[in-house]
Amino acid sequence: MKLRRWMAVGAVALATAGTLNSLPASAGHTLHPSDQSLRALGMRHGLQIGTAVDMAALNDPADPQYRRLAASEFSSVTAENVMKWESLEPTRGTYNWGPADQLVAFAQQNNQSVRGHVLVWQNQLPGWLTAGVADGSIDSTELRDILRNHITTVVRHFKGKIWQWDVVNEAVSDPWDNPPALHYKGFWAQHLGPGYIADAFRWARAADPKALLFYNDYNIEAFGSGNPADDKTQFVYDMVKQLRASGVPIDGVGSQGHLGTQYGNYDTFQVADALKRFSDLGLATAFTEVDVRSQMTPAVQAGDSNEINPRLQASAANFSVLLRACLANRHCLSFTVWGFTDKHSWVPGWFSNPPEGLATLYDENYQPKRAYQEVKADLVYAGPPYVMPRVPQRPRR
Ligand code: XIL
Repeated sequence: MKLRRWMAVGAVALATAGTLNSLPASAGHTLHPSDQSLRALGMRHGLQIGTAVDMAALNDPADPQYRRLAASEFSSVTAENVMKWESLEPTRGTYNWGPADQLVAFAQQNNQSVRGHVLVWQNQLPGWLTAGVADGSIDSTELRDILRNHITTVVRHFKGKIWQWDVVNEAVSDPWDNPPALHYKGFWAQHLGPGYIADAFRWARAADPKALLFYNDYNIEAFGSGNPADDKTQFVYDMVKQLRASGVPIDGVGSQGHLGTQYGNYDTFQVADALKRFSDLGLATAFTEVDVRSQMTPAVQAGDSNEINPRLQASAANFSVLLRACLANRHCLSFTVWGFTDKHSWVPGWFSNPPEGLATLYDENYQPKRAYQEVKADLVYAGPPYVMPRVPQRPRR
């Protein structure tokens, strides 16, 4: 009896895996993998392939490729900027929903899911808020009310349309900060204390019980020393474990995945191990902002292939490390890149001393780079027993 039940379950599992892992065929022919989009190949594993979207580029009639690829290659989108507080509420009490609503409509037209980014972060806050706190006209009681209102208003506005919310972003310091011992950093921790994190998740859950709620951060791709005083992944792990244990409605951890080829970075097993440790807590995981930048030395800028080729290859290898680790974790629900073309990437603007770039999947002329092909190959050449379909995450009650 037991054995028969086990066999039946096994047969269903195999049949499901078989369906999910067969390439879509057209007219009896199996398409060559290179003719398929990333989003179609991701679906073989139940994995959403996402991108951050720059609304100016999406709306630029002179740049139709951007819109075309954003729609055809990706099954999930994230607002690069237009859901941030300074964009949504530039003047106190007056919300500017237009651009964010436009992105949600674009996603719906293209059958894409939306990652909401971001509810609570110390950057890109509106001037009225930071100035009001600085000059004392907003005290901490009012600030907490303002935060609750913001979360409630924004999550309700998009209710039913957001798959995953980045509820709290980048709450933890880095080893190069002062003091060097890792701690809760930034505006919200300074003014409200770290309790704002649990509050934010509870307020978000109350406003949309169906959205998955994520903590999102960078430099948490792999564990280090294991000491939470200098290992950011360990610090975040301890934090989310504690939140879970206290019944806070957190459903996932987003690992941003901003890497650089000048660093040592990690191997696939280290990254897979980190994802497993998070998912063993009952959490979903996701890569939320992947890009792999390189230093733009004078030779790179002059077009010297001796310096360009190793960068393109190292970038591709690092994309691949993160993606394969994600594929190996059945709770890793989405793999999102932070922009898909070097024509529209935050990297050159943000990392300018020394200059950095070459961080995305397509070059400035929308030609797929080595990284694009490796990501595609990883999606094609993966399957049982080590890569199995995703396990959907249900919002924690
Ligand atoms: C970046 C955007 O890409 C830029 O356009 C903007 O000027 C600054 O913010 N971590 C995050 C993202 O969570 O919101 C950041 O996006 C990149 C780092």
